[in-house]
Amino acid sequence: MSKVKILGIGGSPRKNGNTDILLDNILKGAESAGADTKKILLRNYSIEFCIGCEACRKAGTCTQFNDGMDLLYSEIEASKGLILGSPTYNYNITSPMKSFIDRLYPYYNFTNDHPRQYSSKLADQGRKAIVFSICEQLEIEEIGFALEALEMPLEALGYEVIEKIPVTGYFERGAVSKDDEVLKKAFEAGKKLVENFR
Ligand SMILES: Cc1cc2nc3c(=O)[nH]c(=O)nc-3n(C[C@H](O)[C@H](O)[C@H](O)COP(=O)(O)O)c2cc1C
Repeated sequence: MSKVKILGIGGSPRKNGNTDILLDNILKGAESAGADTKKILLRNYSIEFCIGCEACRKAGTCTQFNDGMDLLYSEIEASKGLILGSPTYNYNITSPMKSFIDRLYPYYNFTNDHPRQYSSKLADQGRKAIVFSICEQLEIEEIGFALEALEMPLEALGYEVIEKIPVTGYFERGAVSKDDEVLKKAFEAGKKLVENFR
């Protein structure tokens, strides 16, 4: 049987930061359960923000930019499992992660009535995902909308989000590496993602 492919996407601009560490642990868990994994750090890609030209509605693909997304669309399509992680920035996700999500717009099919009905080209394929965010403040409210900002667009695209992981209380670069409990939780979530495909 072929291995399930899991794509992990990190949205932190900070190298070796807390998001990177959590993503690595989730991917390790997925590998331990037999998945093929790939890690993408958005800070290494140049991704324009969506300008709302709506041309992809007809073309089915982005006609505006040749940029880092050209390298990512095929990876997304080939990976039944997706992990999206972002540090919390102002109660939300980071700008690179938001641009990435907005640039998934070509995956929608829209009708011509208003408000337009939509469906996703990625739907009904058994796609599953994990989302996570990490923030400095201790209280869960301080993570704001970050998890929903990751989860809701993925659900609209046809993913079943099997786990949402909020991590609070970490500010310094890499500080979360000392939290064995959180790292274990991340590892287990990665395992669970793969087990959900069996
Ligand atoms: C621009 C900016 C905005 C931030 N906004 C929040 C916030 O709303 N709530 C919070 O608790 N932490 C906030 N933080 C702190 C980060 O979420 C925290 O340091 C996180 O661990 C960074 O993850 P990273 O190491 O993966 O980049 C913010 C940090 C920056 C740079």
